[in-house]
Amino acid sequence: MGGRVLSVASEAVPLVKTGGLADVVGALPAALAAEGWEMRVLLPAYRSLRPLLAKGGGFAEVMREDDLWGGPGRVYAGESGGLSLYLLDAPHLFDRDGGPYNGSGGDFGDNAQRFAALSWIGARIGREGVAEPGARAGAALWKPDVLHAHDWQAGFAPAYLALHGAGGCASVMTVHNIAFQGHAPAALLGDLRLPASAFHADALEYYGGLSSLKAGLVFADRIITVSPNYAAELMRPAYGLGLEGVIAARAGVVSGILNGIDTALWSPEAEAQNPYSARAMAGKAKARAALEAEFGLSVPGPLAVLVSRLTDQKGVDLLPAALPDFIAAGGGLAVLGSGDPWAEAQMQALAAQFPGRVAVRIGYDEGLSHRMFQGGDAVLVPSRFEPCGLTQMYGLRYGTLPLVAAVGGLADTVIHASPAALSAGVATGITFWPTDALALSQALRQLIRLYADRPTWAKMRRAAMAQDNSWTESARAYAALYQGLRA
Ligand code: ADP
Ligand code: GLC
Repeated sequence: MGGRVLSVASEAVPLVKTGGLADVVGALPAALAAEGWEMRVLLPAYRSLRPLLAKGGGFAEVMREDDLWGGPGRVYAGESGGLSLYLLDAPHLFDRDGGPYNGSGGDFGDNAQRFAALSWIGARIGREGVAEPGARAGAALWKPDVLHAHDWQAGFAPAYLALHGAGGCASVMTVHNIAFQGHAPAALLGDLRLPASAFHADALEYYGGLSSLKAGLVFADRIITVSPNYAAELMRPAYGLGLEGVIAARAGVVSGILNGIDTALWSPEAEAQNPYSARAMAGKAKARAALEAEFGLSVPGPLAVLVSRLTDQKGVDLLPAALPDFIAAGGGLAVLGSGDPWAEAQMQALAAQFPGRVAVRIGYDEGLSHRMFQGGDAVLVPSRFEPCGLTQMYGLRYGTLPLVAAVGGLADTVIHASPAALSAGVATGITFWPTDALALSQALRQLIRLYADRPTWAKMRRAAMAQDNSWTESARAYAALYQGLRA
């Protein structure tokens, strides 16, 4: 049992992160090691990562390609942040200011080529294997049994394996978010090293152009979504966003494996300030007082928190309509996030409208996010769609009850406080549907009522904190999937 997997992705904690994708890619290797699978991660050597490649950093060149879309590419192998890495150094593609996908002028114009290059190298490692750093000539290569591609950035990798030779390497495509599809014009087909013979609707063609995500969905041996519910949703137009037919056509190889969370990192017992546990909750009350002080809040009722990218996906634009009644009933809200300027402005306007009750920090702050999960009573996740979602699981673990839209992984992880669930003692939060201001307002009203009912609230907290959201089960599911592909 067990084997080797190359994970191909654009982000991984602790090296580079814009969202939950990075948490998952960063957590999978340790989770799978426990199941006997050795996973290495291929990432681009962005400007921020190039210092790792300096002499003495422990990275060694193991593969090169002279012309990788306009310049040379070199692959370095080494260890960093607890991960076994392959870093693709192609300065003409990745040594830039800005984030992984964009600079001050918006999305990079050559993202198709940049991530095709990553996928190309991933497929080469899968097909050919790669020498271990410092190995003698003729020594055994590191050759993965499975290439595991994440999202559109790695979507061409399964296609390159299928169309240029797989060398016995199987492929898995995980969809973390179907809203990002890696569109490119059809004119790039040859430049992207894709054969014209595969440019038809059952393979590479997507509404007259290309989509690297579609390529991965068509050519991967297995398709995984990050929650079971999202797998079902993606076969419907409302959530498939144009790719529903592609997914439905492959339904026999599609399944959902729920993300886990890193329970060493996200643990109320392990916090330096105000630790607490289900059996000794005093630290949580202190954490709430500290959080109110930090945000300049004074809230008589439940204190809700929201830690999120501020984008249309996350439904934060529903708050201006839904919040006033909640505030009037004694509630409060602390927001941490960054994203679309309109959404940031909307959050700041709410803070101005309700001083002392609503406060907002625009930015990205891991430490503050921990204090918010510690000190909050409830975490809001009013997403329009949510492939899995991680913050509701942090909330469960911290006894900060999730109030979530019943979509995607949110519906798979939160048990709504229905009369039946309450009397059975299994309720862990509040879910609402559809994602609109009316349903959100109703859910916030229920939050006020439940919070006022102290015994019920305490019981829900205990149930939430007892839920297992670790990687254990999901790592087993991934290992079984890999094993099946190997056999
Ligand atoms: P998505 O990947 O769609 O953004 P997830 O819930 O899967 O949503 O993951 C988001 C991750 O990013 C979580 O780990 C969350 O705590 C973190 N996060 C989002 N915004 C911020 C922020 N402003 N500061 C700190 N952490 C944040
Ligand atoms: C995406 C999704 C999010 C999911 C994360 C990790 O960013 O938006 O729901 O939790 O990927 O899979």
